[in-house]
Amino acid sequence: MEKLTVAVQPPYNVLLEKGLLTRAGSAAAEAVKGRHVMIVADDGVAPLYLDRAVSSFEAAGFRADSFVFPQGETHKSLQTVEQVLLAADRAGITRSDGFVALGGGLTGDLTGLAAALYLRGVDLIQIPTTLLAMVDASVGGKTAVNLAAGKNLCGVFSQPRLVIADPDTLSTLSPALFAEGMAEVIKYGAICDAALLDRVARHTDLTAVIADCIRIKADIVCRDERDLGQRQLLNLGHTFGHALEKLNSFSIYHGEGVAVGLLIAAFAAEKHGLCQTGVYAELRRLLSDWRLPVSTSFDARTVAQNALNDKKRQGDRITLVLPVRRGRSELYPLPTGELASFIACCDGEVTGL
Ligand code: GLY
Repeated sequence: MEKLTVAVQPPYNVLLEKGLLTRAGSAAAEAVKGRHVMIVADDGVAPLYLDRAVSSFEAAGFRADSFVFPQGETHKSLQTVEQVLLAADRAGITRSDGFVALGGGLTGDLTGLAAALYLRGVDLIQIPTTLLAMVDASVGGKTAVNLAAGKNLCGVFSQPRLVIADPDTLSTLSPALFAEGMAEVIKYGAICDAALLDRVARHTDLTAVIADCIRIKADIVCRDERDLGQRQLLNLGHTFGHALEKLNSFSIYHGEGVAVGLLIAAFAAEKHGLCQTGVYAELRRLLSDWRLPVSTSFDARTVAQNALNDKKRQGDRITLVLPVRRGRSELYPLPTGELASFIACCDGEVTGL
């Protein structure tokens, strides 16, 4: 079993092994004091994995209650958080007990926020069941729900007590959901790990690839837990990706937006002489190998306008993340007024098609 430590205060482990879900309870028993948990899952994941999770916690001496909510972005809301809190109260969860997020990034973000709020904070165990949640959302303590004004606008930083990742749970993902996780994997390679790009190209051992991503994320998070500096590197592809998600009324997967966002960043960086030639072509090849989108019909000006509403904007500047060479990206602050002209070169290649 891989045991990776996220060295924040207090530190916590990410356990990674095929088949680990059936031993989640005993792994949790070593990490938390309480013996009563509420497992939160959506109604897509619950029929697949909830019974297994409940049995595993019960076998390890926990009382395990559950709360199931309807799948979908509209349920990533303060109303659902309130329902989780009320369910926890009904179940008699106390301050020394905990919540378990079983599912994808949406479930992890929502349950993380509920855990941070319930009785001013109870333990959270993340059990990600999507590739995206395994390599990104479950690690690092970002919690959030959406507001009418936009995605993930309401949240706190609150680290989990433990992350339990079982790659066997990925076998039930649709090809498109698996691929959106690969967009995040490719993002990690483009940020800081050329060898990871090689592994992705060779389609090598998935568990090892997941471990590489978690290691990168853990390293960045412990250096900048509150997202004030280097952690912003993890937003490579996200400023434009979020804009595309919004422009498509959230009908595309997050990772699909990230894929095109990555290519906008790489193509513009190359065209402005900020990035070695060839980076864009390689990223495009890797993303299309996973059948991820590599272009959008929205033109660069429209993408830029929507990107400027992003919560990563600070006053009249926006910090872009740009690849500079293979396996290396850097932060690139830009006046907001220059964003549209900076990516205008993408029209006809990545945007406006
Ligand atoms: N998903 C980006 C971050 O955790 O900072």
